[in-house]
Amino acid sequence: MSNIIYEAVNWNKATSELAQIFWDQQWKQIWFPEEIAVSKDIKQWKSFEHQDTYKKVFAGLTLLDTVQTNIGMNRVAAYTDDLQEKAVLTVFDAFEAIHAKSYSYIFTTLCTNEEIDELFEWVKKNEFLQYKANKIADIYNSIEEGNPESLWKAMFSSVMLESFLFYSGFFYPLYLGGQGFLRNSAEIISLILRDESIHGVAVGFFAQNLFKQFSKEKQEELHLWGYELLLDLYQNEMKYTDDIYAETGLSPEVRAYVRYNANKALMNVGFEAMFPEEEVNPIVMNGIRNEGSTYDFFSQKGATYAKAKVAPITDDTFNFNR
Ligand SMILES: [Fe+2]
Ligand SMILES: [Fe+2]
Repeated sequence: MSNIIYEAVNWNKATSELAQIFWDQQWKQIWFPEEIAVSKDIKQWKSFEHQDTYKKVFAGLTLLDTVQTNIGMNRVAAYTDDLQEKAVLTVFDAFEAIHAKSYSYIFTTLCTNEEIDELFEWVKKNEFLQYKANKIADIYNSIEEGNPESLWKAMFSSVMLESFLFYSGFFYPLYLGGQGFLRNSAEIISLILRDESIHGVAVGFFAQNLFKQFSKEKQEELHLWGYELLLDLYQNEMKYTDDIYAETGLSPEVRAYVRYNANKALMNVGFEAMFPEEEVNPIVMNGIRNEGSTYDFFSQKGATYAKAKVAPITDDTFNFNR
């Protein structure tokens, strides 16, 4: 038998600067997909010409949220020392499981069983999707006990996943929902996005605290490592975007949105943005700006989601360093 002295989590004083705030905000945002009337989208869905793209967008997001539930938040929480931060990450993990499940709720409502089976097979076969899942999961799986650098790399990757890679998928429901199309499915995405905003900021903040402890040489090395990873993921993301959006003609707009969010992800971890500013589709940007703060952007929000009365979360809510 081992002879480790286990410590109990003590919330009576703050051992982590912002753990309590992240905890409170995440719980205030609790939601369940079944509370949203996705069945109201069925009528529009039946005559929708780009069902294939829409389904693939959500299937891809399902994979990322599955990895984030089972490997990402799970591992990062396991190797985080501070017990309050560990608790916060464990709560985030539970929300990842809700996200991953919510897409299935949309599929169940809109698709046939056969279509759903095909879709989950497609996830296993799409090379770009599998590439990003492997790339990120490998880094999660490389965290070592007593190696803060490996933990930082996992946190960095987690922010890349949540603040950058999700957005090639988020684009489409926001774009359609903002025009009054498939609004209930879009509402689910906006609730997921609201959670991802807080995760990106929180994990980015924890990563920045770790980063400060490294020597200048180490910081430079990790800096380079971070940008190389981002570029690698970015190149793959452009191919993924072209692949799934080909039939819609929206690829260039999705690409711009992905670059915008890559910059946001870099800022979350305290790094400089790397892509030049460019215009992002205003419908999609509008969805983000109002996200979490007003419930009338998608006009059915009030009716479909009466439960959520939470403090506004915007891109700048946890804007600590800028
Ligand atoms: Fe998620
Ligand atoms: Fe997340």
